[in-house]
Amino acid sequence: MNQLTVLRGQTLSFSGDAFIKGVEDTMVFESDGMVVIENGHITQAGPATEVMTTLPSGVKVESYDKDHIIMPGFIDCHVHYPQTQIIGAYGKQLIDWLNEYTFIAEQQFEDKAHAAEVANVFLQECLKAGTTTSSVFCTVHPQSVDAFFEASSALNMRMIAGKVLMDRHAPEALLDTPQQGYDQSKALIDRWHEHGRQLYAVTPRFAPTSSPEQMDMAGQLWQESPGTFLQSHVSENKGEIEWVKSLYPKCKGYLDVYDKYQQLGPRAIYGHGVWLSESELQRCHETGTAIAHCPTSNQFLGSGLFDLKNATQAERPVRVGLATDLGAGTSFSMLQTLNETYKVAQLNGYPLSAGLAFYLATRGSAKSLYLDDKIGSIEVGNEADLVVLNTKSTAAIEYRMRYCESLEEALFIQMTLGDDRAIKATYVAGKCLYQSS
Ligand code: GUN
Ligand code: ZN
Repeated sequence: MNQLTVLRGQTLSFSGDAFIKGVEDTMVFESDGMVVIENGHITQAGPATEVMTTLPSGVKVESYDKDHIIMPGFIDCHVHYPQTQIIGAYGKQLIDWLNEYTFIAEQQFEDKAHAAEVANVFLQECLKAGTTTSSVFCTVHPQSVDAFFEASSALNMRMIAGKVLMDRHAPEALLDTPQQGYDQSKALIDRWHEHGRQLYAVTPRFAPTSSPEQMDMAGQLWQESPGTFLQSHVSENKGEIEWVKSLYPKCKGYLDVYDKYQQLGPRAIYGHGVWLSESELQRCHETGTAIAHCPTSNQFLGSGLFDLKNATQAERPVRVGLATDLGAGTSFSMLQTLNETYKVAQLNGYPLSAGLAFYLATRGSAKSLYLDDKIGSIEVGNEADLVVLNTKSTAAIEYRMRYCESLEEALFIQMTLGDDRAIKATYVAGKCLYQSS
């Protein structure tokens, strides 16, 4: 028998690209909405008074009052689960931070038991923060990928992840070879890609830690593995960009390295892109390559201020998703990540609206990953990954909300003051996996 779950309350979702079509034409808000879920998928969504008439009598309804908003689960387009243990490591920019903290911590993932422990902590924190999908870097160790996917598939979460490819400029214990990297990734693709809700990302860490031979094989592997993702980093830090120029002197720029090795296209997603030039943004646009905006990380490592407005402009929109980039990022909370998105946009002269911000954290991120036909909106046929926001989660927010006059204002208050305490419940494929007490 089909398992039926019915949620009732205020619902918020987006029906299309809010950056291109505008918030007014895409935001769908129901003040008394109903979402019906069968076998992990949304089968009905709309005004409760209409949907209710179609339900069998006596069906149990989970009702959330006016202090709550049911919305799509948040999507984190770029994050490193092995760095859960080094969030908030003090005081360095990218390359020193990698050498002094990251590459030390990642060596521990040779031990699968350690990887499994961290994967479970990471996924529980995601659920607490209302994040239902992430694009995840593991470490160079294939067992770090197995540990992650074992944990995420046990929770039936739609996760993207991959083994980091690195054959130079890192400690010996974290290096593979082009052939090893290829073979291990291929075996992981066979084991995990489209295993339930799991998806594989070929994961060259970034151009400096892969030789031209490894870049070549990574591009080949991605091209010959239909439906897989490719994730990496680009143009995060000015010193890093100079380094890439010296390592790949024949390439026109940083993005061109990935272009040369067939690593641009649909389902390629690059963290940061802070310093991409106009012609590089144009290339992202024409190839369908996505950028993951990592505002807390970019500030924490002093990398720079990504220009969201310029990247998403309607004349040549680049697909942009939102990302925590933990452990250089500083919060699991996508609400806090939106808070920093707003402030970074302000520093670029762009007061991002709350509507666009919530679009970015949900359907926009799903679109950047080419998964908007599956997740990121409350739409019939989509997978039922949902979050229930408590709009009065702290005394200060409750007080502030007494003076709130509109939905836009309520959303803005949540992304400015809210954090994991605002997450009332998180549903994964229709199953409530987290509920705050
Ligand atoms: N560039 C290459 N590796 C990393 C990483 O782990 N974190 C960040 N922020 N940038 C990177
Ligand atoms: Zn990263």
